[in-house]
Amino acid sequence: MTPRTVRNAIRHAEYQFFDELPPPSALLDEVIEGLTEEPKRIAPKFFYDERGSRLFEAITRLPEYYLTRTEMGLFDVCLPEVHDRFGEGGCLVEYGAGSTVKIRRLLEELRPRAYLPVDISRHHLEQSAQALHADYPHLSVYPMCADMTAPFELPEVVAGLDKLGFYPGSSIGNFEPGDAQAFLRQVAATLGAGSRLLIGVDRKKDIGVLEAAYNDSAGVTAEFNLNILHHLNSALATEIDPAGFRHRADYNEESGCVQMFLECVKDQVSRVDGRIIEFTQGELVHTENSYKYGFEQFAELAKGGGFQVEASWSDPDAYFTLFLLRAQ
Ligand code: AVI
Repeated sequence: MTPRTVRNAIRHAEYQFFDELPPPSALLDEVIEGLTEEPKRIAPKFFYDERGSRLFEAITRLPEYYLTRTEMGLFDVCLPEVHDRFGEGGCLVEYGAGSTVKIRRLLEELRPRAYLPVDISRHHLEQSAQALHADYPHLSVYPMCADMTAPFELPEVVAGLDKLGFYPGSSIGNFEPGDAQAFLRQVAATLGAGSRLLIGVDRKKDIGVLEAAYNDSAGVTAEFNLNILHHLNSALATEIDPAGFRHRADYNEESGCVQMFLECVKDQVSRVDGRIIEFTQGELVHTENSYKYGFEQFAELAKGGGFQVEASWSDPDAYFTLFLLRAQ
């Protein structure tokens, strides 16, 4: 028996790709709607084409971007406790499959039977899901290409398994608080009553620390922000010149979020699916809000989203908290 046959003989795991992505026409309608509003906006989900996903991974390694390393620093204490509560052999559902660094830690500590990553960026999702399928022979991998901000159902193949959702990185902060609550309600319904969600939340802190994290000295966040236009031009055939814009990010104390914009550097006219969109010098196109939460503030939001806080882990500076939530 060759080593390859042996490996196949012990493999009980499956790989199946589920494609639920809305057609490009629906995405284009959404972009046109945002660019014809006042003020103009483009939804942050459009950051994540292949290059955008790579730029975001580079952001997570920046010295100013404390979020990723602080969250991962909490794993040493958090994951053994999650393991004790959740047990092994369940289904890990990751909302937004970014870099595989975090999920590898979870797969190794929690040893689920199935892993179901949900992401809008098809190519990136497929590549990382296949790499994990190759590296963890006993793990069934069911990538689902979907817009997780819209309702979707889990496939039948994971119906009998206990579910643990994983939503790291404080991506919940990219929703408006009301939308975050609606999203959590949807997650609770998708995973089912009694299921758990491990979610990373960036906390309120010194404005200087927050603004530096979104205005890094190497200019990677600027590239990431501008890439949203490159992505729209290539995926949806819009004709917006990225050179006509520059990156802006400021903390809005009243709303409690870092806001990212593309600032138009000159008057310009762009074409979007046959429509003319006019931009004026100094105009701000909103691309992202990143909300920062107090501990109780987030616990309340989760409660309204159908979850109770079961446990939590924070770093000594209270920069970041991992919440383990339980669906009611
Ligand atoms: C994915 N999300 C949590 C990041 C954030 O911090 O809001 C996206 C990001 N935008 C700029 N830098 C990173």
